[in-house]
Amino acid sequence: RKPDPCAVVIFGATGDLAQRKLLPTLAHLTHDHPLPQGFCIVAFARRPLSDEQWREMALNAVNQYMPEDDKLDHEAQQAFAQRLFYCQSTFEDKDGYARLAQLLEKLDREQGTGGNRIFYLATPPETDPGIIAHLGEAGLSREHNSNHNGHKSWARIIIEKPFGHDLSSAQKLNRDLGRVFKEQQIYRIDHYMGKETVQNILAFRFANGIFEPLWNRNYIDHVQIVVAESLGIGTRAEFYEGEGAIRDIVQNHIMQVLCLTAMETPVAFDAEAVRDEKVKLLRAIPPLTPEEVAQQTVRGQYTAGVEDGQTVKGYKQEEGVSPQSTTETFVALKLFIENWRWEDVPFYIRTGKRLPTRSTEVTIQFKRVPHLLYKPDETRGLVPNRLTLRIQPDEGISLKIGAKVPGAERNLRSVDMGFSYSSAFGIQSPDAYERLIADCMLGDSTLFIRRDEIEASWRIIDSITNAWKGMSDDTVYPYQAGTWGPKQAETLIENDGRDWDNPS
Ligand code: BG6
Repeated sequence: RKPDPCAVVIFGATGDLAQRKLLPTLAHLTHDHPLPQGFCIVAFARRPLSDEQWREMALNAVNQYMPEDDKLDHEAQQAFAQRLFYCQSTFEDKDGYARLAQLLEKLDREQGTGGNRIFYLATPPETDPGIIAHLGEAGLSREHNSNHNGHKSWARIIIEKPFGHDLSSAQKLNRDLGRVFKEQQIYRIDHYMGKETVQNILAFRFANGIFEPLWNRNYIDHVQIVVAESLGIGTRAEFYEGEGAIRDIVQNHIMQVLCLTAMETPVAFDAEAVRDEKVKLLRAIPPLTPEEVAQQTVRGQYTAGVEDGQTVKGYKQEEGVSPQSTTETFVALKLFIENWRWEDVPFYIRTGKRLPTRSTEVTIQFKRVPHLLYKPDETRGLVPNRLTLRIQPDEGISLKIGAKVPGAERNLRSVDMGFSYSSAFGIQSPDAYERLIADCMLGDSTLFIRRDEIEASWRIIDSITNAWKGMSDDTVYPYQAGTWGPKQAETLIENDGRDWDNPS
C-alpha cells in the first residue's frame, strides 16, 4: 500500500533524536520507498532559521548519521531538501501555531499534501501538554475536508517515550491527549516494536505449529529477557538521573518484548486484536508488594571499570551526575504472570548500562527430561534445552539441544541449532523508526502502544519504584563497568536453582 501524501511536523527538530534518527530515516524513506509527491517535512522550532538554513542543517544531519551504505547522492539530497520547510516559534507561542496552520494550508495548496499531517513530538516530556493543547486550540488536530482536493484529510500525533514518569503522569498525559485527539489519531511510539526481530517473535510463535504447543507452564521452566548495553549514559545525565534503568528500558522496551513473548494468540493481525492481547497479558502481572520487591528485584549502579579494553568512569563521575546519585543503571527482577498459560513460571529480566556487551535476547528454558538415562559425569556438558531469540546484534534464533559426543563413551554435550537473519535473508533489516513512521503514514497503529496498555505497564512499574522509595540507598549495589551487574543479581536467580544465560 502507498501512503497518502502528508506533512510531517517535527517538534524538537533541532534536538538529538530528530538529527540522529528522524531526519536520516525520513531521507531514507523518501529515497528508497518513493513517497507521494506531496510529502513535506516541517520543523517547528525556536531558532531563527530560514527554510534554506534549515535545509542545510538537516542535510548535515542526514550526511552525518545515515549509515554508510544508504548515503544519498547529491541529486537525492537536493530532492529531499526541497521537501523541508521551517516554522519558527517557541512551543508556548500561540501565534506560532496559527502560523503553522497557515503554512500547512499553503503546503496543501502548493505541494499537494492533501491536508494530511503527522505531528511528531520529539520533545522533552514536560513540554508535551502545552504543545498538545496549542495544537488543539489552533484546530490542527481536526480531520476535515481538504480545501484543495475535497478529500477528507487526517491528522495524527506521534509521541516519543518517556510517556509519563509514573502511572499518574501517564494518565494525565493520556487525558491531555484525549481532549484534543481521538485515540485512533494517537501513536505512542516504542522503537523496539519497529525492530524486525521483535516482530519476528510473533511470526515465530504464530506461524509455526511446532513450538506453540510447548509454549506454556507444562514445558517451560522459565524465561529470561536481557537488554544489555555496553555504553554508559554518555551525555544524557540530565535525562537519565530522573529515570533510571527501570523507566528507561523496563517500562517500555522490555514490557513490549515480554508481551509478544507471552501473550495469547490474537484473533487477527490488526491493531485492536494485537493490543487487546498485550493488555490482557499486562493485566495478568499483579503489582508487586513491597516484600516481593525486596526479594525479587535488584538495583545496581556502575562504578569505574574496563569496557572493551578502555578504562571508563563510574556513573557518579559522569558529567552532570550527582556524586550522591542513587539512580539505578542496572535492574534484575523476577515477575510472574498469573494466568493459565504461565502460572508459576518465573520471568527473569535484566537490563543495564556498562555491561560486558550490547545484546538483547529472550531465552526460553524448557524443563529437563523427567528421568535422565545418563550418569552425572556423562552429562557435564549438557544444559537444559534453551531457545534463544536474538533480537540484536547478530539477529537470529538458536536452540540448544543435547547431542552425543563422538567416541566410545556416552558423553553428552549441548550443541546449537541456529537460524541467522543475515545468512538466511542476506539483506539488512529496515530501521525500526522507518517501519514505524511508514506505518503511521498508512494509519496502522498495530505496532504502537494503546492508552490502556501504557497505563497497565506503569501500574506494574509503580509498584516497584514506590517500594524502592522505602528501601535504603545502599540497596543500589555497585557493580564494576564491564561486568554482568552486582552479585546480588546472581543470587536472585541462583536462589531458585537457576543461572543467567549471559549473551556471549
Ligand atoms: C532508548 C533508551 O529508548 O533505547 C536508551 O533511552 C537506550 O537509554 C536505547 O540506549 C537502546 O536502543 P537500542 O535500539 O540501541 O537497543
